[in-house]
Amino acid sequence: MSEAEERQADRTRAQDDGARLGDDAPPPDDHEQATRRRGKTVHGELANAGHRVLAPDDAEVEAYLEVALDAGAPQRPDVDRPGGAVPRGEGSGGEPDTVVVLDFGSQYAQLIARRVRELHVYSELLPFDTPWPEIAKRRPRAIILSGGPSSVYEEGAPRPDPAVWGAGIPVLGICYGLHLMARELGGDVVSFAKREYGPATITLTDDSPLFAGLDREQPVWMSHGDSIVVPPPGFRPTAQTASTPFAAIADPARRLYGIQFHPEVGHTPRGRDILRNFVLGIAGARPTWTAANFIESTVNEIRSRVDAQARESGGTGLVLCALSGGVDSAVAAGLVHRAVGDRLTCVYVDHGLMRKKESELLRVTFEKNLGMRLVMVDARERFLARLAGVTDPESKRKIIGDEFIRVFEEEAAKLGRIDFLTQGTLYPDVIESTTPETKAAQKIKTHHNVGGLPDDLRFTLIEPLRYLFKDEVRLVGLELGLPEAMVFRQPFPGPGLAIRIIGEVTAERLDTLREADWIVIDEIKAAGLYRSLWQSFAILTPVRSVGVMGDGRTYANVVAIRAVTSEDGMTADWAKLPYDVLGTISSRIVNEVPGVNRVVYDISSKPPATIEWE
Ligand code: XMP
Repeated sequence: MSEAEERQADRTRAQDDGARLGDDAPPPDDHEQATRRRGKTVHGELANAGHRVLAPDDAEVEAYLEVALDAGAPQRPDVDRPGGAVPRGEGSGGEPDTVVVLDFGSQYAQLIARRVRELHVYSELLPFDTPWPEIAKRRPRAIILSGGPSSVYEEGAPRPDPAVWGAGIPVLGICYGLHLMARELGGDVVSFAKREYGPATITLTDDSPLFAGLDREQPVWMSHGDSIVVPPPGFRPTAQTASTPFAAIADPARRLYGIQFHPEVGHTPRGRDILRNFVLGIAGARPTWTAANFIESTVNEIRSRVDAQARESGGTGLVLCALSGGVDSAVAAGLVHRAVGDRLTCVYVDHGLMRKKESELLRVTFEKNLGMRLVMVDARERFLARLAGVTDPESKRKIIGDEFIRVFEEEAAKLGRIDFLTQGTLYPDVIESTTPETKAAQKIKTHHNVGGLPDDLRFTLIEPLRYLFKDEVRLVGLELGLPEAMVFRQPFPGPGLAIRIIGEVTAERLDTLREADWIVIDEIKAAGLYRSLWQSFAILTPVRSVGVMGDGRTYANVVAIRAVTSEDGMTADWAKLPYDVLGTISSRIVNEVPGVNRVVYDISSKPPATIEWE
C-alpha cells in the first residue's frame, strides 16, 4: 500500500465518518434507518419514484449504449471473485485473502465490508442464510456476522448455517451477531423492553487479542435490544459496560469472538484497531487488497478474456466503452485500456449539456495523456435542436435519452464488429441487483422504445469494477493516473445542465448557467468543501427580478444555488454552507455572469424536495 493510498483512504474515511458539514447527529439505529432509508415523498411515494436514475455518474449514459447495442445480461461466474482467473501465488495478483461478512440486515453491513477492505483485505458481503458450501468456496480467512434489526428470540429470526461455528475459521459476531453466537452455542440471551442505543464506555476485563493495544476504557457505539445473561460454555467475558457484564465475550481456543458494540462506525474511535486485530491478527489475513494489486490482476483477467474470445471467434476482440465524464466509466475504461490497448474504443457524446471545461478535460486525459482511441462526437447542435421549445422536464429527459441512443447506434455502426461492452457497475449494484430500481438499463429500456441494432449481434459485458466500492474506484483511478478533478467529481445527472435550466434550454441560457455553475464549484473547492458535499451546483430559474446596478435598474435572471449532503442520493439535507462562502459565490455570480442580478440559496431537504430542480 502506498502512502498516497493510505492518505486517500483516510480522507475518504473522514468524509464517510460523518465529518460532514453540519452533520454531527449520531447515526440512526437499524430500525429507524430501515424506515428512513428509502425516503418517502409527502405523497407517500418513494422519494426517487419515477424515471430518475439513482446511481448517477455513468449509469445512465452507459445504459444508453447498452440499449443502443441491445447488450445481453452480464455473464458473472458462479463464484465471482477478484483475480479468480489468475492462479494462486502467481505474482502479486491471484485471489486475495477474503473475509466473508454475513448480512443480518444491519444498515452497517456494507460498512463492515468497507472497513475490512480499508485494512487491505478483500471482503465480500453475503446473505445471512448462504449455505456453508457457498461460503467455503470463497476460502474465507474469517467470518463476520453483522448486526441486524431482529431479536434472536423472534420467530423466524435470521440464522447462519450452523457450520460457521465449527469450521475452525475465526468468527466475529457484532451486536445481533454476538447474540446469535451466544444463543446458538448454549448461552442465554434476554430481550430488553427498551433498546439501548447511543454512546457507551466499555471496560476491558480480560486480555483478549481482539483488544490488543487498547486502553482499558473505550468509548463505543451501542445499538441493541437484547443482552447476554449467561455466556455459552467455553466463552469468557472480555469487556463490560455499566449495563452488561458481557459487552464482549471470547472463546480463543475456537477463535470465536463477540462484541455488543459497532466497531465499524466512526463513533467507536478505536473500532478500526479492533477490526485490524481480528482480521490481520487473529485471522492472519494478508493485506494484499491494494489498488496496485487489483489493477494487476484485473488487467490480466480482462486480457485473457478478450484474447480467448478473439481466438474462438476469429475476430480481434473489439471493446467499446461509453464515457460520460463520471469516475466509474473513466476508471473502467482506464483498466480495459491497460489490458487491451487499441482494441478499446471509447465513445464520448458531447451533448453540450456538460459543465464548463469538462469535455476538454476528458479529451486531454484520455486522448492526449493516456493515448486512448477516443471518438468524441460533437452532437451539441443536434441536442439543442431537439430541445428547442421544450420545457417539460420529463420530455427533456426522454429527448436526451433518445438522442443519445441514436448517436450511439450511428457510431457503433461505423466501428464494425464489436465483441464487448465495458460498464462501470459497482459492487453495491451487483449485490443489490435484485431491486429493479437500481438497474439503470432496465429503467431506460422501458422509457426508450428504440430499435437497436439487429438481433443477431450479441455483446458481452465487461464489468471491471464489480468488486469495488466507490471509494475503492477512486483509489484505483488515482493509481491509474486519472486527474483528481475526474476521480473526485460529484455525481452529475445524465441529462446534464438541461434539467438545471428551468424552462427552455437555449445556447445562451446554457452559457449563463455554465458560468454561474463554474463559480459555485470554484468557491466550494476553494473553501475545501467539495468532497464533503454530495452535490453542489447552480440552477438557472425562469424568474427575472428587478435589481439596481450603478445608476441603472436591471431586470435579469435569478440563479439558485443547491448544495446537499447525502449518503446515496435517496435522502439529502441542504448543506449549512458558511455565510461567507455563500456571500462570495453570490457577489461573484452577479458581478461576473452577464444577465444575472440575484442569487438565492435552496434550503430544502429531500424529501420532500428532490436534489435536482427538474
Ligand atoms: P433527485 O433529483 O431525484 O436526484 O433527488 C437524486 C440523484 O439522482 C441524480 N439524478 C439523475 N441522474 N439522470 C441521472 O443520471 C437523471 O435523469 C437524474 N435525475 C436526478 C441527481 O443528480 C442526484 O444525484
